[in-house]
Amino acid sequence: MSDLKSKIDPEKLPRHVAIIMDGNGRWAKKKFLSRIKGHEKGINAVREVVEACRELEIEYLTLYAFSVENWRRPSSEVNALMRLLKNYLVKERDNLLKNGIRLRAIGDLERLPGDVRQTLFKVIDDTKDGDKMTLILALSYGARWEIVKAALRMANDLKDGKIREEEVTPEVFSSYLTTSPYPDPDLLIRTSGELRLSNFLLWQLAYTELYITPTLWPDYTKRDLLEAIRDYQKRERRFGMTSDQITGLHAES
Ligand code: FPP
Repeated sequence: MSDLKSKIDPEKLPRHVAIIMDGNGRWAKKKFLSRIKGHEKGINAVREVVEACRELEIEYLTLYAFSVENWRRPSSEVNALMRLLKNYLVKERDNLLKNGIRLRAIGDLERLPGDVRQTLFKVIDDTKDGDKMTLILALSYGARWEIVKAALRMANDLKDGKIREEEVTPEVFSSYLTTSPYPDPDLLIRTSGELRLSNFLLWQLAYTELYITPTLWPDYTKRDLLEAIRDYQKRERRFGMTSDQITGLHAES
């Protein structure tokens, strides 16, 4: 682990890592356990990855914890996920505070059960001064939902004359998204080998580097994260420019 860590270039860290935590159900099935057990084990992986990102001094970590489509799962599984989420928040509060981690959330939070929402808002408030890392939980989140909401809000501002049509740019549109306080992710990790975005941050991932691993989320460790970051550091991010242009930019700075 430490040899892998020493291969990470601290100057080229992703500022923002986003993760689609997938495979809890398959992990449980392979072990003849209930899906809930898979989610329970998934919480340990959440703890490990939050700790690893904090140690590496990554500024933003977004975790896709519950999609807007996940409400369609059997109510027993939805209830168990809500209970796990609440327990995680209650248990993790002190740890987040101690480590200077600010908790935030994106998604249709109104749909969360009242007690979960209350706990979430309390931990968000309690940790608001954390300045070492921002942990963003995507809860009841769907990118299409977020984009439609943003478009409606922008249309209202256009109608009310708060902005003019000529002023509308991708950056202005971004400012209407729930993610507006955060930079776009540099690295997206998806576990369990699925090659899909599953309605996650569709707008924000336009230039994000993608890393897919077959590891199922409950088996995910710090080592897996370090491998993903190492792979990311080998890539050249061109943002639509040529390789020569990018090399020139580096030479100038
Ligand atoms: C995907 O596995 C995972 C989820 C739908 C939920 C992720 C939730 C956790 C890891 C625990 C709660 C999170 C926090 C932050 C406290 P899946 O059930 O879709 O797996 P499958 O595709 O193998 O069935």
